[in-house]
Amino acid sequence: MRRKMVCGCLCLLSAVVLAGCQDGAEQEEKKSIRLGVSVYRWEDAFLTTLRTELEEKAKEYEQETGIKVVMDIVDAKESQSVQNSQVERFISLGCDALCINMVDRSAASDIIVQAMDADVPVVFFNREPVEEDMERWDRLYYVGADAKQSAVIQGTILADAYDGDPSSLDLNGDGVVKYVLLEGESSHQDSLIRTEWSIQTLKDRGVPIEKLTGGIANWDRSQASALMEQWLEEYPDEIELVISNNDDMALGALDAMERCGSARPIKLVGIDATPAAVEAVREGRLMGTVSQDLETYADAIFQIARCEAEGEPVEEHVQLEGGKYYRSAQAPVTAASLSD
Ligand code: GAL
Repeated sequence: MRRKMVCGCLCLLSAVVLAGCQDGAEQEEKKSIRLGVSVYRWEDAFLTTLRTELEEKAKEYEQETGIKVVMDIVDAKESQSVQNSQVERFISLGCDALCINMVDRSAASDIIVQAMDADVPVVFFNREPVEEDMERWDRLYYVGADAKQSAVIQGTILADAYDGDPSSLDLNGDGVVKYVLLEGESSHQDSLIRTEWSIQTLKDRGVPIEKLTGGIANWDRSQASALMEQWLEEYPDEIELVISNNDDMALGALDAMERCGSARPIKLVGIDATPAAVEAVREGRLMGTVSQDLETYADAIFQIARCEAEGEPVEEHVQLEGGKYYRSAQAPVTAASLSD
């Protein structure tokens, strides 16, 4: 009888202790969230700026709420299989949400299956998975900027300059603006659309343009610099304008011009408004760029991920298109807009 009573008491005690532990664990969960972030290439200038903003957002949130945010940010080193393994590891570490900048935007399937199996939501950003993949689950999101809008703004910066003073672009006054084109990765949704709409905008606005040549420099400063060096040799007295799908390539072209001691005041325009590009606009070395408003961009990524992690309705904090897409606002950055 005594043995039974002791045993009963012990059971009761352990039940109380266990329940206490569980409560503690739940409270503990609410006090901290874990996010796994993977970017396609660490050195990418635009993503470096975005990464910094994202870390800022996490810090601000921690300070405002006292909820600890553990954010693991890793480099996928331009390998889709490396990124797939990173996702596997994030899930095994118990991440509450993933923020993924796909290496290959057409290969999101593996990541989506892993995430669905583990019930871990995913915020894709900057490199948009195909619609079919995005439709597979209601806990998949995409944050990015509208590529057509970036390009129309880029074209408008140039057309406005030409309207104000044709000689700002038509350096030799022959009635035609001769340009070279620097393009991003051929597999990236932004490259083709940016190229198409930047040129279309110039045509629509009646700017007389002629393409001398163009090439793919994969968003990369040194690849763009090498191409531009080659073009400066091929067309020493003809290039009047460099239209670039992003800032880092425009800066690469500028590097080549400075290295080759190019005497002509060739104009350059980019997209992204990276800190280095904004500085170059301020110094008059770059004619303009397009801001993708990285603060709201990073905020959208962070808010979606943390709402999902904490079980809060995302749409109370972030306005989404079709329940899953967020497109950040964009604006021209020129010497005039900077002095406003
Ligand atoms: C673009 C951006 C580029 C590069 C690329 C990477 O949106 O303009 O500079 O970062 O994304 O996916």
